[in-house]
Amino acid sequence: MGNIKITGTGRCLGEKVVSNDDIATIVETSDEWISSRTGIKERCISVDKNTSDLAAEAATKAIKNSGIDVLDLDLIIVATTTPDSFTPSTACLVQAKLGAKNAVAFDISAACSGFIYALNCASKFLDGIKFKKALVVGSEVLSRILDWEDRSTCVLFGDGAGAAVLEYTEENGIMDIYIGSDGSKGKCLSTGEFGIDNPFSVKERCSESKLDMAGKDVFKFAVNIIPYSVNKVLEDNSISLDEIKYIVPHQANYRIVESASKRLKLPMERFYINLDKYGNTSAASIPIALDEMNEKGMLNKGDKIVLVGFGGGLTWGAILLQW
Ligand code: ACO
Repeated sequence: MGNIKITGTGRCLGEKVVSNDDIATIVETSDEWISSRTGIKERCISVDKNTSDLAAEAATKAIKNSGIDVLDLDLIIVATTTPDSFTPSTACLVQAKLGAKNAVAFDISAACSGFIYALNCASKFLDGIKFKKALVVGSEVLSRILDWEDRSTCVLFGDGAGAAVLEYTEENGIMDIYIGSDGSKGKCLSTGEFGIDNPFSVKERCSESKLDMAGKDVFKFAVNIIPYSVNKVLEDNSISLDEIKYIVPHQANYRIVESASKRLKLPMERFYINLDKYGNTSAASIPIALDEMNEKGMLNKGDKIVLVGFGGGLTWGAILLQW
């Protein structure tokens, strides 16, 4: 690796800002409980827009930011747990919305690690010959799959999309990617389960389409896997934590990041956090954070950063990159 760079970023959030107090009118909870347990103060909920709409808006901004022509896109990958439909894929819907008619388009399902997985996949495609420019989007309308009567989950999530344009260049960019999965623990966090339902099926099975989470198990998994993934990608490249300007973690819970900060012995200021405004936007959280950092001018050419994700599957991964 080393010849693939992020050259543009963009984001789009659900249009309605919903505070913790607003949520307290729907389920028995409070701003105090949600803030102290998670760090979340508000989230953006989509009123009308579906996953492909948010993705296309974020993508349009990323394409503008990179300065490329939409017709030059060779590849579009959308990471999502909440696709508009099984088929067409959300990536194909985005392709049509953008008019990116020269791109190959498909989705990736890796829950909150989706953006890391999708960047990995795109970076393998980009060879500078047939594939030179790619669009990678993490987009979710999680409000669609939440059980709005379950206070232990509905307070945690929000809707949004983040996008990045990747180009094959002569410069150093993505230095290394580490990803992992453990399907044996998949039940910790699940949604959209469909039973067999046809005239020949023998068992009566119910379909569970709402998000279900064993919060404590996910918490334990997250606090271990973040430091492990960050250390792995650094050690594999003989880079020390001192050389890393920022860690951009998946935005699930402030206490998870705080624990990772302690375990890595890295001050919280080196972790970018925006979950107070958006909650957990799953595959969208890392690219949304990246776009905010880019917009604020926090990333200078040559800065080394690590993106780190974890989520349903279970899945996880980290990316070491030079801006
Ligand atoms: N408001 C008020 N009380 C609540 C709420 C709420 N929103 N939710 C749960 N409670 C209650 C519970 O009913 C329980 O009450 P009880 O003791 O009378 O039974 C009490 O609060 C404690 O519940 P716990 O589940 O033990 O609360 P905990 O301190 O573990 O916090 C939380 C729950 C915030 C979900 C925590 O486990 C967590 O952050 N887990 C990580 C999960 C996560 O971040 N998931 C998303 C990331 S996964 C991903 O992104 C892929």
